[in-house]
Amino acid sequence: MSNIQTKVKELIDFREQAKLGGGQKRIDSQHRKGKMTARERIAMFLDEGSFEEFDMFVTHRSHDFGIDKEKYFGDGVITGYGTVNGRLVYVFAQDFTVFGGSLSETFAAKICKVMDMAMRNGAPLIGINDSGGARIQEGVNSLSGYTEIFQRNILASGVIPQISAIFGPCAGGAVYSPALTDFILMSQGTSYMFVTGPKVVKTVTGEEVSQEQLGGASVHAAKSGVAHFMVQTEEEGLEIIRKLLSYLPSNNMEDAPMAVCTDAIDRLEDSLNEIIPDNPNKPYDVKEVIRAIVDNGEFLESQKQYAQNIVTCFARFNGQSVGIIANQPKFMAGVLDINASRKAARFVRFCDAFNIPIVTLVDVPGFLPGTSQEYGGIIIHGAKLLFAYGEATVPKVTVILRKAYGGAYCVMSSKHLRGDLNYAWPTAEIAVMGPKGAIEVLSSKEIAAIEDPEKQAAFIAEKEAEYRDKFANPYVAAQYGYIDDVIEPRNTRFRVIRALQSLATKRLQNPPKKHSNIPL
Ligand code: HXC
Repeated sequence: MSNIQTKVKELIDFREQAKLGGGQKRIDSQHRKGKMTARERIAMFLDEGSFEEFDMFVTHRSHDFGIDKEKYFGDGVITGYGTVNGRLVYVFAQDFTVFGGSLSETFAAKICKVMDMAMRNGAPLIGINDSGGARIQEGVNSLSGYTEIFQRNILASGVIPQISAIFGPCAGGAVYSPALTDFILMSQGTSYMFVTGPKVVKTVTGEEVSQEQLGGASVHAAKSGVAHFMVQTEEEGLEIIRKLLSYLPSNNMEDAPMAVCTDAIDRLEDSLNEIIPDNPNKPYDVKEVIRAIVDNGEFLESQKQYAQNIVTCFARFNGQSVGIIANQPKFMAGVLDINASRKAARFVRFCDAFNIPIVTLVDVPGFLPGTSQEYGGIIIHGAKLLFAYGEATVPKVTVILRKAYGGAYCVMSSKHLRGDLNYAWPTAEIAVMGPKGAIEVLSSKEIAAIEDPEKQAAFIAEKEAEYRDKFANPYVAAQYGYIDDVIEPRNTRFRVIRALQSLATKRLQNPPKKHSNIPL
């Protein structure tokens, strides 16, 4: 064997060694837990053969607790770049087979390197998390490593899309890197996220709780709203991230890629002329409206299980990517509460940061009344949504389907918040408040003066009908130009597509400032 052949063989051997991570036994253990290895995840996620790895030969530099006798190529995280549907992305995947995927100084430096490259080249960053947290043997160097990552997450926010998959443990301060990214996806049964684990919880509060109950995927998808997507398998999760990326531009200086539209742009949806029930208090499913108007009925919902009274999703109109925000009458009558306001505000801000036009479908009876909402700060949380819409400069198209009452009318991308094209269906009811509440305020003395309950009910019904005739329609707002047109429901797809086309060259800038002070 020539000298060069020997050296090439050595390189190949080193690579083989690196690919084994913490060794076959630990790989088998990972598989037994129903989890893939970091390398398997990257291979499944990226376009076949597109992965270019960095820092395969990095090892840790610590000495304490005998760790200097145990070194693995790569040091517990696989990093590099590749493509998703032909578009450049940067990735890192924590390797649980090496010191439980725990984060060392060199591990963090590897992640920081791909983050810097993603920023420099304007490409999304996808992090796959599966880690025991700070590498205990490294002490403060591990903490410094985490914080270097956090700082980069913060600076990259609004510049490149950042997406986190959680496919294993993610605990302690480690949760804050995913929390700083745009989207979090969790696998059910195999992932968990919490700031302090069950043992600490028991010591401090006496509460007995399992890992799953404390921070499993369903907890974060449905209760806390920390996770945007919950999946049954890692494969499904990686596919959702690929799909999500298809709706997004690579960075804030670009527009999202156009898809080929195979759905007629002037498709009439007769079902929409029938969808609003005669009884204004009867619900319907706003997702049926979304499905009927977007390209091929396809949309990708974010935070599907959380604050279901508002729907946030990505979809396409004539191949153009949009973010849709829709009140959902099927849940809590589509009312705006704290959770719905926070959910929608963050989604609006994401779309605005990444040049994704916003389509808003309105059917909202108002803000949810009551002490729990007031004590929880609905004022400040509702203001988030108001702020997000008012600050957004991307094209904004709004369709009022039915109710648009009070402050909720103002908030939901109204003309007054620089809504570009605001339409209403003939079934729209745009007023300060619903007929029932209005009559209670306006006619309370007259109502109280009627002793006979039957006569009282008839009087209220008559007044409500009078109010409804006068205000609960789209034409008063139309008279003032607060909505641009009253449109036939079945023609909504075409009108939205036309509106978006007319806004393709929109230019609008907010006044120069260091940054705004959104009511956090
Ligand atoms: C070093 C670690 C490690 C860590 C796990 N390992 N966590 N090594 N530092 N933090 C090693 C184990 O020694 C073991 O090595 C291997 O990884 C697999 O771990 P197991 O315990 O066998 O796996 P499992 O039973 O699946 O349990 C996983 C686990 C548990 C729940 C994550 O390992 C665990 O509780 N780890 C400690 C978690 C922790 O407290 N981290 C620090 C949090 S504080 P061998 O050689 O046997 O394979 C923190 C601060 C961050 O993270 C602050 C940021 C600002």
